Amino acid sequence: MNIQDFTGATLQHHHNESYDPSPDYAAELSSVLDKKACDAAYNTIVEWEGYAPSPLVSLSGLANKIGVGEILYKHEGERFGLGSFKALGGAYSVLKLLIQEVSKTTGQQISADDVISGKYTDIIRGITVITATDGNHGRSVAWGAQKFGCNCFIYMHAGVSSGRAKAVEAYGATVVWVDGNYDQSVHDAAQAAAQNQWFVVSDTSYEGYTELPKNVMAGYTVMTTEIIQQLPDGTPPTHVFVQGGVGGLAGAVCAHLWLQLGSERPRFVIVEPDRADCLFQSGLRGEMTDVSIQEETIMAGLSCGEVSSLAWPILLRGTNDFMTIEDDLIAPTMKLLAKGVDGDQRLVAGESAVAGLSGVIAATMNSDLATKLGLDGSSTILIIGTEGATDPAIYEDIVGMSPADVVA
Ligand SMILES: Cc1ncc(COP(=O)(O)O)c(C=O)c1O
Repeated sequence: MNIQDFTGATLQHHHNESYDPSPDYAAELSSVLDKKACDAAYNTIVEWEGYAPSPLVSLSGLANKIGVGEILYKHEGERFGLGSFKALGGAYSVLKLLIQEVSKTTGQQISADDVISGKYTDIIRGITVITATDGNHGRSVAWGAQKFGCNCFIYMHAGVSSGRAKAVEAYGATVVWVDGNYDQSVHDAAQAAAQNQWFVVSDTSYEGYTELPKNVMAGYTVMTTEIIQQLPDGTPPTHVFVQGGVGGLAGAVCAHLWLQLGSERPRFVIVEPDRADCLFQSGLRGEMTDVSIQEETIMAGLSCGEVSSLAWPILLRGTNDFMTIEDDLIAPTMKLLAKGVDGDQRLVAGESAVAGLSGVIAATMNSDLATKLGLDGSSTILIIGTEGATDPAIYEDIVGMSPADVVA
């Protein structure tokens, strides 16, 4: 695999005129995510068994090859043994829901420790959570439900691989297959919850449903708290390229970097598959815009046509650039990471993990776009490598090596 193979990729780019240059995080966004919520998520999640910060890996060989200063890759492939950053969001939201419900039932304000210690097992056993997923979020919710002792249903559409469904079932959840795409599975899960008095623990938000997804986004910010602690010499990156599905991840990263870094926050670029470009289209129009997915993208975790209504106000003000890429950049990027460029650490990165990095590499091969994005030898680019081989069979098929061989 050769870097030159990224030359001539079809990319779309939109510079966001609604970007808010103020160093101060906009006050009206605090109702979605604020410092207190980010700190609370961090302080809770670091106490969970098996917690370890995910590494921030320098890809200086690759950076050198594409003519940028540095690439810092936040490698989420091992997070809590679940294989993606989503471990931080869904499970945390399940915990917050259980705290709330047990507090209501007992009439006392209970704590996370009370839930984890098993003190309220009898009440929790009667609670059922449900969500739609394209794999990773459902795995997190199922893991959280098992960990904290409630019941769990996970709705999946036919585009989700059986490997990803089995991984969810391994945590004791019941998988329900839905006709249609991801967006349909979100609607069906909401309907089933309403009929059965179950609790939707979604990673996306929509009219009338916003509270629990805020906790999901707060959970994601454990990554940005760690990143600030891990930055070499404490120097902020100049750019961050984040992949977008519904925008929850991008919203959380954008808000928390803004809160933590103010005027030093990096240029914020969202990269999406062109087959599921709801954030790009929303950026173009300056308002939330849904798209109808005609063909599933290889980036399964990003195959979303409806924007999270919570994330959108953050992204409208905090995003500098929206980009789309085509599916055929994904395999080359996964292979580059698996082999390691010029001595870089070899990394197992799944299909949805590499979208941001694919966008960076392809943009540097297009001098117009590189100029528009301000990418040059002085750029330090932060990448959120959101998943490892969450379906090992698909990974091996694409990369030609098993995840174990890559790291051996
Ligand atoms: C691996 C991976 N990366 C990125 C995303 C995008 O997150 P969001 O849908 O919050 O934009 C997802 C979503 O499922 C994912 O699984």
